Amino acid sequence: MNIQKLLISKAKEARQNAYAPHSKFLVGAALLTADGKVFTGCNIENASYGLTVCAERVAIFKAVSEGYRKFRAIAIVTSDCSYPCGACLQVMAEFAPNLTVIVSDSKKKTRIVKLKELMPKAFKL
Ligand code: THU
Repeated sequence: MNIQKLLISKAKEARQNAYAPHSKFLVGAALLTADGKVFTGCNIENASYGLTVCAERVAIFKAVSEGYRKFRAIAIVTSDCSYPCGACLQVMAEFAPNLTVIVSDSKKKTRIVKLKELMPKAFKL
């Protein structure tokens, strides 16, 4: 299995844990580190909507909290092949400006883009 397919399959698996009773929009993510480890995430909603965390940020924060800060690619699985939200793009840009972003519905459609295409001028300090 190639790495893109593996990431999509891991993101699909993580999507099964999505906690999204409010929006019913299920998201799974799988993040590939520079040394080949994969961290997954799903969206986790809250009755106080603003506390919701996106799948991508769960995966990234899991990785960073385990000591991993270099990332090659992230796959995101949704029902409609959605691109990540602006907040997640900003978090990706902090750690991996050259990241490859793979979005998929895990069935028919997959699109592969660079983070720089989605967020060409990310905020930096
Ligand atoms: N969501 C993600 O997990 N990732 C994104 O990039 C955009 C949105 C989640 C948040 C919320 O649980 C649901 O999708 C609808 O916005």
